[in-house]
Amino acid sequence: MKFFIDTADVDEIAEAAALGILDGVTTNPSLIAKTGRKHKETIIEICGLVDGPVSVEVTAEDTDGMLAQAEEFVTWADNAIIKVPLTQAGLKACKKLSSQGVGVNVTLCFSANQALLAAKAGATYISPFVGRLDDIGAEGMQLIEDIVQVYANYPALSTEVLVASVRHANHVHQAALIGAHVATLPFKVINQMFKHPLTDVGIEKFNADWAKVPKDA
Ligand code: E4P
Repeated sequence: MKFFIDTADVDEIAEAAALGILDGVTTNPSLIAKTGRKHKETIIEICGLVDGPVSVEVTAEDTDGMLAQAEEFVTWADNAIIKVPLTQAGLKACKKLSSQGVGVNVTLCFSANQALLAAKAGATYISPFVGRLDDIGAEGMQLIEDIVQVYANYPALSTEVLVASVRHANHVHQAALIGAHVATLPFKVINQMFKHPLTDVGIEKFNADWAKVPKDA
């Protein structure tokens, strides 16, 4: 399973990259706004921090506008890929970009049918939002299970399932059991995944016992 980090905060990205577990980055307009920094300079800095794909989201709502933004974004770094929304305009842009060999992450996916359309349009990644579905009382993880199953029924589809809107470590556990290809994780969730109370207790006990061991001269 690949792990992307879901942030535009360069300090968080550098810290996660240093852990050796990072395969890419996802950004969106809200995450960029949170940094208070300019878009282009932030994306260029992020792209230099990781080897893997960095999703850069378009804000235009029409296909031509999306393609114009995409054309600019891909000049910023070799590992910039384009994030488009799951709309008719977005999927038209996806088809065009993927046929040109540009990586595309189709975002704001909330149904298996939408995921099927994105795959047919040549998406590199489909991003179903589990947390936002949970927020409205739906079963976010059920959608991941459905999409993984639907894609498995049609081996010619090469789109990877990128679990997005992840809120806690249990989402990662469930997504991995289902076999999702990628999860994009807030920095907080990456930290949560390292933690287990028995690990802390174990270290404390080993250190206490080590202190009793006579030391060699
Ligand atoms: C990732 O690509 C999405 O933009 C992100 O995971 C959305 O998460 P949120 O629902 O916490 O805003």
